[in-house]
Amino acid sequence: MFSPSSSNLLTISITLTALQLFSADAHPAPAPAVEINTSAVEAAVSTTTTTPAELATELLYIVSSIEAQSPTIPTALATIITEAGQPAATSITEATLELGEFVEDGLLTYTAEEIEGSGTSPPASVNPQNPSKPIYPKKNDSDAPYSLNESALRSAIDIPTTFTRGNKRPIIIVPGTAATTNDMFANNLFKLLAADPKYADDFVWINNPTLSREDAQVNSEYVAYAINYISGISGNSNVSVIAWSQGTSNTQWSLKYWPSTREVVSDFVALSQEFHGSNVSTLICDALGCPPGFFQHKYDSNYIAALRSDDGDSAYVPTTSIWSGTDPGTSGATGTMLDVRGVGVTNNVVQTLCPDEPAGSAYTHEGILFNPLTWALIKSALNHAGPGNLTTAQLKPLCAKYAPALLDATDVRTTLSVSVVQDYNIFAYPDQVTKEPKLKSYANYTVPA
Ligand SMILES: *[C@@H]1O[C@H](CO)[C@@H](O)[C@H](O)[C@H]1NC(C)=O
Ligand SMILES: *[C@@H]1O[C@H](CO)[C@@H](O)[C@H](O)[C@H]1NC(C)=O
Ligand SMILES: *[C@@H]1O[C@H](CO)[C@@H](O)[C@H](O)[C@H]1NC(C)=O
Ligand SMILES: *[C@@H]1O[C@H](CO)[C@@H](O)[C@H](O)[C@H]1NC(C)=O
Ligand SMILES: *[C@@H]1O[C@H](CO)[C@@H](O)[C@H](O)[C@H]1NC(C)=O
Ligand SMILES: *[C@@H]1O[C@H](CO)[C@@H](O)[C@H](O)[C@H]1NC(C)=O
Ligand SMILES: *[C@@H]1O[C@H](CO)[C@@H](O)[C@H](O)[C@H]1NC(C)=O
Repeated sequence: MFSPSSSNLLTISITLTALQLFSADAHPAPAPAVEINTSAVEAAVSTTTTTPAELATELLYIVSSIEAQSPTIPTALATIITEAGQPAATSITEATLELGEFVEDGLLTYTAEEIEGSGTSPPASVNPQNPSKPIYPKKNDSDAPYSLNESALRSAIDIPTTFTRGNKRPIIIVPGTAATTNDMFANNLFKLLAADPKYADDFVWINNPTLSREDAQVNSEYVAYAINYISGISGNSNVSVIAWSQGTSNTQWSLKYWPSTREVVSDFVALSQEFHGSNVSTLICDALGCPPGFFQHKYDSNYIAALRSDDGDSAYVPTTSIWSGTDPGTSGATGTMLDVRGVGVTNNVVQTLCPDEPAGSAYTHEGILFNPLTWALIKSALNHAGPGNLTTAQLKPLCAKYAPALLDATDVRTTLSVSVVQDYNIFAYPDQVTKEPKLKSYANYTVPA
């Protein structure tokens, strides 16, 4: 599965990384080499009997054995972002070795123990206030039916006690797959929003109790309900939605099948969009099986085909899409949001906006959460009618940065480390599938042969 020449390449790249670290940080002496036993990983992972559960155990083993060697922790954002930006893995073995390199490079901020405990969903929220008009079972006759009851839908919305309920336009944050919402956003968007008085009291988020690992159609129900609920307890104000990764396709699905939501969403900001699924899902699910919600994000799944049918690949509300061209989890240009309805769309690829500059570096799927263009485009979208759009003059200073000034090296490493948490919670999920859940009848769509 893994050829000797690739092993050599790995050894060489580890050596190069150490040299780069040495020269960039100008330490008096290179730190002792920290290395995983590559042949042991290859032997463990390439066997045809590897199960996701075994891979989860292997992942914890790799993390704890490197942890024990105390790798040198990089502090320069340029070093951190460059080291994290590895080429797209083409096999599970390669993906596992890249994960090992990530830990060797001192990028991981979670301990093995924290990773092992990271799959616990937060407690259900208590939201006694009813919306001004009923929104369940339907707000509008043309909305799809929910499969979840109202109490399950409502208790997944986390609303801080300081939320002003409509003094300012509410913002709803929608998570991706296989980590808690707090793990995904605490070191990026939550910090940035909380520090800005314009938004500090007015953002809420969805805590999906399955960490979005179960049916993506149900994950989308949480989004549809949250949009109408938050509007309904905020004087029927419009809301804005910021989603990441799987959350982007869940949001587009909710706008498509719950038309009432379209009427109250001023802006949809899609980070590391999965409007054409993710090729990482294809890699992992084809090799091992995977959780249903992750399987539905294969490039050619029924869920994705249904989402994109009937101009579902075009925006329903002003949409700002932001991704990295080096992210293997976005299906690149094929996930571009179109605009047949003329509602206003911008597709922002960081390398296109900032070629050969820091903000246009090889950002990962998670890295988009702290890319300086992301925060600038969010503010642009929230502060004027239509999608976020940056002028050449605005771009110039942004392109020279790796992250907004408020985020430090630990924030950046912690955000990047969420990928390891996600891998673990995908592999450790007990009910892996090798085919996707049926489409609900409201979305049933005959997929072309
Ligand atoms: C690396 O793993 C291989 C295969 O499991 C083993 O034979 C070898 O002794 C290990 N090397 C070290 C340095 O631990
Ligand atoms: C229901 O949705 C349709 C289409 O979006 C809209 O034309 C209609 O006004 C809505 N009805 C109500 C009662 O909100
Ligand atoms: C709502 O559904 C949840 C499971 O999703 C269940 O535990 C709960 O008892 C249900 N509540 C009501 C009021 O039916
Ligand atoms: C609310 O959002 C809808 C859909 O984007 C838009 O047409 C409408 O103008 C917005 N209303 C306000 C008051 O911003
Ligand atoms: C993802 O896979 C599809 C289908 O194989 C391919 O067309 C597309 O280029 C891939 N995207 C990336 C970013 O590799
Ligand atoms: C974004 O700005 C550019 C000029 O900077 C303009 O050509 C384009 O139409 C704008 N896009 C939208 C959707 O407003
Ligand atoms: C659509 O519904 C039919 C009838 O229930 C079912 O057999 C088929 O599998 C569904 N299609 C998809 C893509 O889920």
